[in-house]
Amino acid sequence: MMNEFPKGFLWGAASSGPQLEGAADIDGKVKTVWDHWFETEPDKFYQQIGPRDVSNFYFRYKEDIQTMKELGFNSYRTSISWARLLPDGKHVNEKAVTFYRDVFTRLKENGVKPIINLFHFDMPYHFHEKGGWENRDIIHEFAFYAKTAFDYFGDLVEEWVTFNEPIVPIEMGFLNDKHLPAVVDIKRAFQAGFHTMLAHVYAVKVFKENQNKGKIGIILNLTPSYPRSENPADQEAAKWADVLFNRSFLDPAVHGTYPSELKQFIENEQIELHYEDEDFALMKQYTVDFLGVNYYQPRRVQAGDKASNQDVLQKYFIPYQWPEAKMNPHRGWEIYEKGLYDIAINIRNNYSNIPWYVAENGIGVEGEEQFIDSLGEVQDDYRIEFMTDHLRWLQKGIAEGSNCYGYHVWTFIDNWSWLNEYKNRYGLVRLDLETMERHKKKSASWFYELAKGNTLPEKW
Ligand code: BG6
Repeated sequence: MMNEFPKGFLWGAASSGPQLEGAADIDGKVKTVWDHWFETEPDKFYQQIGPRDVSNFYFRYKEDIQTMKELGFNSYRTSISWARLLPDGKHVNEKAVTFYRDVFTRLKENGVKPIINLFHFDMPYHFHEKGGWENRDIIHEFAFYAKTAFDYFGDLVEEWVTFNEPIVPIEMGFLNDKHLPAVVDIKRAFQAGFHTMLAHVYAVKVFKENQNKGKIGIILNLTPSYPRSENPADQEAAKWADVLFNRSFLDPAVHGTYPSELKQFIENEQIELHYEDEDFALMKQYTVDFLGVNYYQPRRVQAGDKASNQDVLQKYFIPYQWPEAKMNPHRGWEIYEKGLYDIAINIRNNYSNIPWYVAENGIGVEGEEQFIDSLGEVQDDYRIEFMTDHLRWLQKGIAEGSNCYGYHVWTFIDNWSWLNEYKNRYGLVRLDLETMERHKKKSASWFYELAKGNTLPEKW
């Protein structure tokens, strides 16, 4: 059939421990940076909803896994909480082991392959106090955590991910005030980013040395960069945006080396990076088996202002608002479906056509209650349209040889999000914040048809 996806294509959703589990301060879990930040600055959080008030997967996972099956999922990605598994960083919390083992077992029993990520923005606060990603010790702490997870769950999990969007805590925490430590300092950003990359490399090393079964990868948010015009200065700007925001993690993860332009950037900006001699050899040796790609929006740029002394990045590129952009007004993100195709072709051409899957794609909409019909179902046709349009472009990329093997929507049940909390809803399933009840949206039935048929539903 024309619309069919490759055999065995993964269908499911992505989520994360901190956004879904709840039980933030019981059964041995210690504080993450988010728990701490909410305690100290609750006004930063939309409607003052903190990380304790999330959808309680910790208590309701049995019912939620049943729902995944009803939605046709054959796979599901979430993350383990470092702060729950190793509260002091050293000793294993047996309650966490029991919880995660039961979750992974039940997923498998229901035909849902667990894809398990180790880090989704949720640094244990005690490590943050010691410098977090800026302190080189974190690399070994993370490798120990990774080894613990592989040892305790390796018999149940065969697809491991080290990091989700490792650049986000760097960009949002060291060049912005949306993650802790909320500073603007390019030098600190580079050191923290480098340590994050090394933590990933050491986790891959441990995985391979342990001879764990299965595969290990990384999930990156790739934002294809498009220049405002054909003008060489605009083109140059797009190159820099790509180097800084995509290739900075993509190249070392897949090829084991940093792009030469990044080295040039470091020299230009006189960034003194601390490293050890063996770092680069290990990076070269321990590359990933697969790639997950989160795609929401492209990055449009125009020529930088070389004279700018306001913001380092502005010297290299300046964001550009394309007048014809189709926008998601709720999140303020451009919707550009072809970006997914461009990613597919880029991976095929420039990244050895490594096996990859769409690890997140979705649309966050505010005020979804206005679309609830008389039977209580959110009529989210816009979500169906969003996924259909992206999947069409993905199919084109696959037809042209890109090695994509799955698609995960963000997300399963509406979930809590960092500083936006429940403002924008992304789920196939609606969460009633008062009762914590779950109600399937129209897109849930559509997704079932898609997954079961392994093909885009003809009409909807
Ligand atoms: C991704 C993250 O960046 O986008 C998720 O992996 C996040 O954690 C999702 O929730 C949607 O973004 P947001 O900020 O609207 O929740």
